[in-house]
Amino acid sequence: MLSGKDEEETGMNIVLIGFMGTGKSTISEYFRNNYRLDVVEMDQEIADREGMSIPDIFSTYGEEYFRNLETRLLVELQSKDNVVISCGGGAALRPQNVVEMKKNGKVVLLTAAPETVYQRVKDSDDRPVLKGRKNVEYISELMEKRREKYEAAADIVVQTDNRDVGDICREIADRIKELGE
Ligand code: S3P
Repeated sequence: MLSGKDEEETGMNIVLIGFMGTGKSTISEYFRNNYRLDVVEMDQEIADREGMSIPDIFSTYGEEYFRNLETRLLVELQSKDNVVISCGGGAALRPQNVVEMKKNGKVVLLTAAPETVYQRVKDSDDRPVLKGRKNVEYISELMEKRREKYEAAADIVVQTDNRDVGDICREIADRIKELGE
């Protein structure tokens, strides 16, 4: 599955984790269009099922409710093959979720500098965690708080600042292959 459209599928999944704005959705889309992989956008799937946006789920039911939906979905996705699972930025913070992710496939941590993240998220209002504090300082602080958990969850870490999405996907594909060899 990892070399491009005409290659054999191996039945393995890619689980993308990382802070908001590190490129999980963009990279998933590239995999969908250029590799023989389906994509599950966890946030989108949860919002569709609940019939509510992520900010509405947070404000109506609270963060814990949303986190439980993430855990349930990660377990459910274990029945899928050849899929890129694009996790919400907080999904890897719960130890139980990391256990479920590892059963799902290889966990790829995407990283970016706080300034890059800020540029990528500044025009959208769909991230309740950054509500009222969408600035480089807060992003940097929260990223630092989360760093250890992200890194502990990852099989591979890929930096995304100032890079072409195709290059990033090739690096991910190559490094996943190396892990299997
Ligand atoms: C969150 C990240 C969001 C979404 C929710 C919480 C977080 O996903 O799941 O707003 O805690 O980092 P993205 O990383 O896709 O923005």
